[in-house]
Amino acid sequence: MSNILGDAYQWVKAGHVIFVIFWMAGLFMIPRFFVYHQECDPGSAEESRWIDREARLIKIILNPSIIVVWVFGLALALNYGAFGQGWFHLKLAVVLILSGYHGWMVSYAKKLKAGQRTLSGKMLRLVNEVPGLAAAVIVVLAIVKPF
Ligand code: HEM
Repeated sequence: MSNILGDAYQWVKAGHVIFVIFWMAGLFMIPRFFVYHQECDPGSAEESRWIDREARLIKIILNPSIIVVWVFGLALALNYGAFGQGWFHLKLAVVLILSGYHGWMVSYAKKLKAGQRTLSGKMLRLVNEVPGLAAAVIVVLAIVKPF
């Protein structure tokens, strides 16, 4: 416990959870966008609208949120002394998987923009379960701290 945040700790925690909500909202939306995107004709005006929507979702919601969640989360962890605790090790592992998923979604948006539709609609609907499952595990670890 280093108490770098002092009285601001609860405010930083509130900010952390607010940006977790934004991040999760974006992660839930993006594969849905991809499904609709892939339902329109390649090169159509509708396709360019989806490319634009995906780019804005990444630029305005997803990328700023992941940065704030990590910065606030690491500040909380240093303050809390979480690096020595079991629940935090697992939380960090699941958050790293979620961050990798974020990167994968951003790279798939680039692929779609380049005209490469490598994932089926069914697969995109399936991967859409990842953030929900990860969030459930992370919230239980952060609140219950079972070990
Ligand atoms: C990105 C890396 C992250 C780090 C380093 C991190 C770290 C932390 C730390 C140290 C706390 C304070 C625990 C306490 O005061 O009891 C916390 C709180 C919390 N975190 Fe994270 N977190 C991260 C990402 C996430 C994500 C992705 C979610 C949800 C999907 C999440 C959900 C929560 C919740 C709900 C709390 C409040 C727990 C409470 O008040 O008891 N965190 N986080």
